[in-house]
Amino acid sequence: MRKNSEIKYLFEPKSIAVIGASQNPEKIGYKIVQNIVSSQFRGNIYPINPKGGELLGNKIYSSILDVEDNIDLACIAVPAKYTFDVVKECGKKGVKYLAIITSGFSEVGNLEEEKKMVSYAKKNGMRILGPNIFGIYSSIAPVNATFGPGNIKRGNVAIITQSGALGIAMIGKTKFENIGLSAIVSVGNKSDLEEAELLEYLIDDKNTKVILMYIEGIKKGEKLVSILKQATKKKPIVVIKSGRSKRGAQAAASHTGSLAGADEIFSDIMKQCGVLRAESIEEALNWSKFLSNTPKPMGENAVIITNGGGIGVMAADASEKYGVNLYDDFEVLKNTFKDAVPDFGSTKNPVDLTGQAKISDYEIAINTALKNKEIHSIICLGCETAVINSESLKSTIKSIYKRSRSEKPIVFSFFGGQEIEDSINFLRRKGVPIFSDVYEAISCLGVLYISKRRLKDKVEQLKSINIDFKKINQIIKDVQKDNRTFLLSHEAQNLMQAANIQNPKSILARNLDEATKAAEEIGYPVVMKIVSKDIIHKSDAGGVALNLADKKELIDAYQAIIYNCKKYKPEAHIVGVEVSEMVKKGTEIIIGSRRDHTFGPIVMFGLGGIYVEIMKDVSFRAYPLNSHEARIMIKEIKSYPLLLGVRGEKKKDINSIVDTILKVGAVLYNFPDITDIEINPLVVYKERHGAKAVDVRILLYNKGDLDE
Ligand code: ACO
Repeated sequence: MRKNSEIKYLFEPKSIAVIGASQNPEKIGYKIVQNIVSSQFRGNIYPINPKGGELLGNKIYSSILDVEDNIDLACIAVPAKYTFDVVKECGKKGVKYLAIITSGFSEVGNLEEEKKMVSYAKKNGMRILGPNIFGIYSSIAPVNATFGPGNIKRGNVAIITQSGALGIAMIGKTKFENIGLSAIVSVGNKSDLEEAELLEYLIDDKNTKVILMYIEGIKKGEKLVSILKQATKKKPIVVIKSGRSKRGAQAAASHTGSLAGADEIFSDIMKQCGVLRAESIEEALNWSKFLSNTPKPMGENAVIITNGGGIGVMAADASEKYGVNLYDDFEVLKNTFKDAVPDFGSTKNPVDLTGQAKISDYEIAINTALKNKEIHSIICLGCETAVINSESLKSTIKSIYKRSRSEKPIVFSFFGGQEIEDSINFLRRKGVPIFSDVYEAISCLGVLYISKRRLKDKVEQLKSINIDFKKINQIIKDVQKDNRTFLLSHEAQNLMQAANIQNPKSILARNLDEATKAAEEIGYPVVMKIVSKDIIHKSDAGGVALNLADKKELIDAYQAIIYNCKKYKPEAHIVGVEVSEMVKKGTEIIIGSRRDHTFGPIVMFGLGGIYVEIMKDVSFRAYPLNSHEARIMIKEIKSYPLLLGVRGEKKKDINSIVDTILKVGAVLYNFPDITDIEINPLVVYKERHGAKAVDVRILLYNKGDLDE
């Protein structure tokens, strides 16, 4: 396997072969050669076609084996049925990277042929981009080895796209929007190279300031998470992921041959990685353009300058939504803006210049804001009025933006008729971040702040977790010996103890005598539950008794439980009953962990205990995670304030929740035989009083599934 440090041969090839190069200008094999030539590629170009001849000043070789030079990159544009033969020839030649343009593989169910190519390439030290791609453009080479538009605008946004058609369209759209590209890579079926490996190159690429990814499905999620966490510490990453809806997910799956992960999990894990998830391509491009052109704010204080109250209030709402902090030192604001605002205006934030404001008044106010060191970013808004002259709007904003660009972030939103719209279009072409929708403008500032905060995020080391590996291993082995894929309640509780997760004191009793002794040892009141691998739904079977106050109640309950369960399922093998401490009331939460198809071990946290299904107030993270990430995950749910204590209640023991999340994740991560762990409820008490795992469900893989 080629080392990933060699990925530069893909982005900075010195020699490229185009196999399937055609003299027919209508064909893709012609277009690729034409694009490489016109992109002023400084290396050698080797068109390959059995017919020989010449193409755009380059000799056509009848076989790649006839080329004497080493080949860094071979673009393959021959029909699918010939592609494997071509891959084999490339292997003989010792080509480093293959960009397989050809369609007709896993995306249409032809997985076998794709696997054959990948396995051959691996054995012969080649890496594959694609198949089913439009190619790669890299400004550093520079090379446009795509069959998309020529003449790509150079710049500092890199795009990785799973959709070919959207990718090609984005080349056109970025040019129209005046967004320069450092690279655009089509990954298609991702048979070998995936986003993670391309990111490894792009995060250290000096030409790339922002990375935009269009994703339909992820194959190696764990690797992607780990690289994204590192990448966002260096530069902003914007992601658009299609397949949010069930229908969308199906379309994406059939389109790319890979399954889209559940959308909520994807969103939460992207947040964990510090990735900016956009709702639409438009939004992703707006953000990328802004982030690639704007200085980092020196601090959190933003100021709104407006000519209308309504739009100012909307901007305040949008600022809250996108986490933009509005500066509120009214004394400083008053001193700063008193000369720019008429008496009947407002120097509070939003700074209201009132409806009489001319563009020259905006200029004064913005210049004042630029000069004040306490103000770190500016939101400039306007509603169309008779005193706003569109010509001066265009020229003044263009020049203000040019000046402010190197000093402070600034976004503009103007709303009105044809003249305003024309001015916006004109200014956008000039690169000014101006929008008719105030939310669009402020979302740009919001993501700038998120990426700035991300750069400052301390990377907390993962602490080693104190769990009894030997004991957990033994519990799992015993369950497997019994041919079960689920742990009985007392086994799950023993596992919790081995993981140092607090749980109610509980003892397995095989008869009434043992049950009474157990209750005395634990202390009344107690809970009693049936233990039988044949009875999963214990309450339905009448196999649970709560709050047993004394020996008499315990004896009655024991007899009732055994009677009910025998009646419910006469053939059930009953091991006995589990006698447990009746835990005190507290706040009920749920903590889970499971192996996700896409991301591997993930953890879940939510409030609501048994009502979680209805409330769906949960958050997810990929494991490994550190306590800082676990804390953010806890804060993210809507009912988080309940943990802080409402209506005179004390704050809950959030440290215990963090600790339990980390331990549950660690158990799943370290024991590959476990598929699911769910504590529901974990009863949490006030600060420093801990939490108890009351009900625990643990599932194992079927041995057969693991061997497959
Ligand atoms: N070595 C070198 N050249 C060869 C070989 C070979 N082993 N075999 C064939 N060729 C030549 C052919 O003779 C032909 O050259 P010619 O024009 O001189 O005769 C050339 O290679 C191309 O072969 P064709 O049979 O003409 O195939 P065509 O160009 O029509 O199609 C292609 C090939 C483009 C790869 C097609 O099979 C394909 O997959 N198209 C879809 C591409 C695509 O959409 N990619 C996906 C992403 S982008 C998006 O979604 C928009």
